[in-house]
Amino acid sequence: MTAIPLTLHRDRFDAGRVRALRRGDHLLVMDRVSGRWVTVDAPTGQLLPLVASAPHRLPEQVRGPVGELRALLLERGIGVLGSERRFEQLNTVILKLTNACNYACSYCYDYETFERAVVLSRDTAVSALTQALDLAERDLWVILHGGEPMLVWQLVEELVTTGRLLAAERGKRVRFAGQSNLSRLNDDIVEFSLRHGIAWGVSIDGGPDLHDHFRVDHQGRGTYVHFARALERYPSFVRGCGVMSTITAANQGRLSELARHFRDLGMASWDWSLFQPIGRGRDQQATFALDPEVLVTAWGELFDAVEAGEFDGFPVLPVKKYLDNFIAGPGGNMCMRPECGAGRDLLSISSDGSVEACDCIDPTGPLAGLGSVGEGLSAARDSEVAARIRSRDLSGTECAKCIWYGVCGGTCLAHAPALDAVWPEACAVALCAFDRISYSLANSPRLLDYQRSLG
Ligand SMILES: C[S@@+](CC[C@H](N)C(=O)[O-])C[C@H]1O[C@@H](n2cnc3c(N)ncnc32)[C@H](O)[C@@H]1O
Ligand code: SF4
Ligand code: SF4
Ligand code: SF4
Repeated sequence: MTAIPLTLHRDRFDAGRVRALRRGDHLLVMDRVSGRWVTVDAPTGQLLPLVASAPHRLPEQVRGPVGELRALLLERGIGVLGSERRFEQLNTVILKLTNACNYACSYCYDYETFERAVVLSRDTAVSALTQALDLAERDLWVILHGGEPMLVWQLVEELVTTGRLLAAERGKRVRFAGQSNLSRLNDDIVEFSLRHGIAWGVSIDGGPDLHDHFRVDHQGRGTYVHFARALERYPSFVRGCGVMSTITAANQGRLSELARHFRDLGMASWDWSLFQPIGRGRDQQATFALDPEVLVTAWGELFDAVEAGEFDGFPVLPVKKYLDNFIAGPGGNMCMRPECGAGRDLLSISSDGSVEACDCIDPTGPLAGLGSVGEGLSAARDSEVAARIRSRDLSGTECAKCIWYGVCGGTCLAHAPALDAVWPEACAVALCAFDRISYSLANSPRLLDYQRSLG
């Protein structure tokens, strides 16, 4: 181990952000801000309280081992001020192509009674793409969203084609993904999507009984049948899509069943979106609202099944995203880090051309309205509301002491009851997830085997 002279780092080392947690025979030592960690054996862990002391104040016999432990922490960036990654450059833009939809899911957040059906104008969309590409350092992800984006397919084709040209002119890379109900899938959509590598996700809430509970059309009829038809007609294309299930009171206790259903259908992956009481979901909150106890119990069962190898080869994202973030450290997932993407590396363009920090933000709430595409994406990011969102401060919450803060991020600000508060249901899941994952990794190779099985 290379010893790093402490003198070089003394003013950068902050023992106050280092936390330790017993994990069987090992001790997890974690920087609660940067999310960096290491496991050490129990005798080494006993020296932790001494790492911040100046060497000449330590008894001679522990000076060497304490120095080695301190060197290990410094080498891993644990407790080192400034070791956390920062994300300042725009890299993702959500385009809400229309707020119209051929479904009327009873929880849909993307519906407000005061809104009329509008389609994002081609000029506004191209202007947003151009500005986003200018702001992006090298890579830009464009998420095609709605409403139902496949209802305006011509616009999708135009934007993908134009986006590629604009990116090439700037020596940058643009990639497209989208979220859809897939009810309008046809030969043209499949062919164009495959040719341009558009990564589609499909929203299905479980088998027909669960799905048809809330995902209904404007006549109240269940819509699983349209997914089943798409799967039958375009099996390999549909199986290439990741599934997203909205988790409500109706399916929160049946997570393992959902994961098995989509694995057995041969889908690419399964993810979840936890119910948020906005849009149509605002009206019947009691029907949809999650119960943290039921949710955490179901998550624990799912975790047990993943750990036991039942889902090897199949990405169960409600487990995998916590696992990946814990192992690789915060960064890749813009929703699981202390400074989330909203108004920072992410902007969302609504179908009327207004700009939001994230599409999850309540359009009727105080965090809405950064400006418009016409006024500019730069101005939107520089707006007071965006600055307020970026200044989220969780020091008055339980996150201020939590060992998992660096890898959790304090939950989604748009789902929390207030900007500087925490979303309780997601906090309950995160506490359970990081506890189970860190314990498992310290004592068994199973989760690493699972990660490897996904390629
Ligand atoms: C608003 S939809 C737009 C794209 C497309 N129409 C679809 O359903 O996939 C995007 C995703 O948000 C989910 N969603 C809708 N309302 C929600 C809510 N109130 N809370 C959490 N997720 C919700 C949907 O199920 C879907 O997976
Ligand atoms: S969740 Fe998607 S499919 Fe359902 S009503 Fe909302 S926009 Fe339409
Ligand atoms: S939201 Fe919960 S799990 Fe996450 S950092 Fe805060 S207290 Fe910890
Ligand atoms: S507001 Fe929520 S959904 Fe949006 S980037 Fe932040 S954490 Fe993610």
